[in-house]
Amino acid sequence: MYIKDLHAFEGKEVTLKGWVANRRDSKGLVFINLRDGSGVCQCVADANKISEEDFNNAGKLGLESAIELNGTVLKDDRQIGGYEVQISSLKVIQFVDNYPIAKKEHGVDFLMDNRHLWLRSQRQWAIMRIRNTIIFAIHKFFQQEGFVQMDAPVFTGNACEGTTNLFETDFYGDPAYLSQSGQLYGEAMAMAFGKIYTFGPTFRAEKSKTRRHLSEFWMIEPEMAFYDIHQNMDLIESFLQFVIKEVLDSCQKELTLIERDTTILQSSLKKFPRLTYDEAVAIIKGEKDVNGVNSIRSLEEELAKVEAEIHAVTSEINEREAKIAAPGMKKGEINFNQNKIATLKSDLKELEEQQRNIPQWIESAKNFRYGNDLGGSDETVITRLFDVPIMVYDWPHEVKAFYLKRNPDDARFARGVDVLAPEGYGEIVGGGERETNEQMLRDKITEHELPMADFEWYLDLRRFGSVPHAGFGLGLERLVTWMCKLKHVRESIPFPRMYGRLLP
Ligand code: 4AD
Ligand code: MG
Repeated sequence: MYIKDLHAFEGKEVTLKGWVANRRDSKGLVFINLRDGSGVCQCVADANKISEEDFNNAGKLGLESAIELNGTVLKDDRQIGGYEVQISSLKVIQFVDNYPIAKKEHGVDFLMDNRHLWLRSQRQWAIMRIRNTIIFAIHKFFQQEGFVQMDAPVFTGNACEGTTNLFETDFYGDPAYLSQSGQLYGEAMAMAFGKIYTFGPTFRAEKSKTRRHLSEFWMIEPEMAFYDIHQNMDLIESFLQFVIKEVLDSCQKELTLIERDTTILQSSLKKFPRLTYDEAVAIIKGEKDVNGVNSIRSLEEELAKVEAEIHAVTSEINEREAKIAAPGMKKGEINFNQNKIATLKSDLKELEEQQRNIPQWIESAKNFRYGNDLGGSDETVITRLFDVPIMVYDWPHEVKAFYLKRNPDDARFARGVDVLAPEGYGEIVGGGERETNEQMLRDKITEHELPMADFEWYLDLRRFGSVPHAGFGLGLERLVTWMCKLKHVRESIPFPRMYGRLLP
């Protein structure tokens, strides 16, 4: 019996097993918020209706105590989940009285140190449920489309995405790398099965702390024989829209719980704009507007707004603090004002962060050098102008991976495509059409200073039945982060691995 199914047991007696998420006492009554992993519901212990022993035990339950209870399911629209359980008997599996994550606000470092417990909180619960729905939707989409799921090795002998962020390990005395991408193997598998996808752990040594980078993440990499860059973009669009729709259809409760405004997710069901690198650069530098909005001017206006707000919030904090300090204020009113001040201060912190960030974005957008890769702040600048993911394709070949095909009409560009999520999130997908010409690949492998011998097996694919093909890689955590509108990618995976974080 799980809490998510209570609606089917109205008026009936049920047994629930779970953990105490909250407890509140009032005379003769104990209110327990019970969570069992499937949901949360309020369970009421009434001194007149249960044994004295059970009632006393109920009153002693600390956060995360484990219990089993019997009770009657009553409809109550005011309660979370719409039902309440009137307890008839209660068995304590374990009393807990010192659960470290109390109700009060904790700093993020403390919460990360206690990630094994933090996962139990409502917000983390909702995020992981959404992640689960996304994973299921990904498989559903590709299976429906006739793709075969295949797995690429984790120990690899080749670098796929450059040599700067490889994790080297010892493989029976020889160096091996943890996979940066399953793509090269995906290409081999696509030549055998037509359309395949891999879904596996991926490793990048990123010795910097950003809100977008993990050292270990999960990547979905479809690879399709006989696809060009445009068909690849069509597939990316229908794939992402399928996943977004599944989440909107089946995660309403979770999205509400994390207070995700779903407007942008809804608007992302329309066509994704496809911009060439050249167009994207013009937009970032403010040389080209998007629907009448200029990147630089809109950032400057926003900065002015943020500064005005900082001024307003600061004076409200000062006023309330002065009122509290003055004599004569009632206790309840003091409490009310103190809570209000705490909220205002956290708003202020966010505004000040924007006040620091926006000028940096403006600077880097103005100074963007044509020919460079887009940096995190450039992606932020451009994606804030759209209410839908955008696809940027045809990149200067020098900044992209060795395996990308050159545009046959303009050899300056490689047929790569990045999908950038709106609201400032930036890259969630990287992919493209693959080079089919063996000599071009050899030249690139040499140019990238990669060991040719290790790539001979890959070059076989260009010698035996080489056909046009394309594919892409979606970073699961980047997608979860955007869809849940998280501030940092670390909350999108159960146990993040990143620079400075190996435990728990
Ligand atoms: O753009 P990337 O490096 O592309 C590839 O690896 C290709 N071989 C994929 C392919 O075409 N089959 O990585 C793909 C995606 C990025 O767009 C991003 O979403 C995610 O993987 N990603 C990361 N996510 C979290 N932390 C990191 N350090 C990431 N690096 C890449
Ligand atoms: Mg990329």
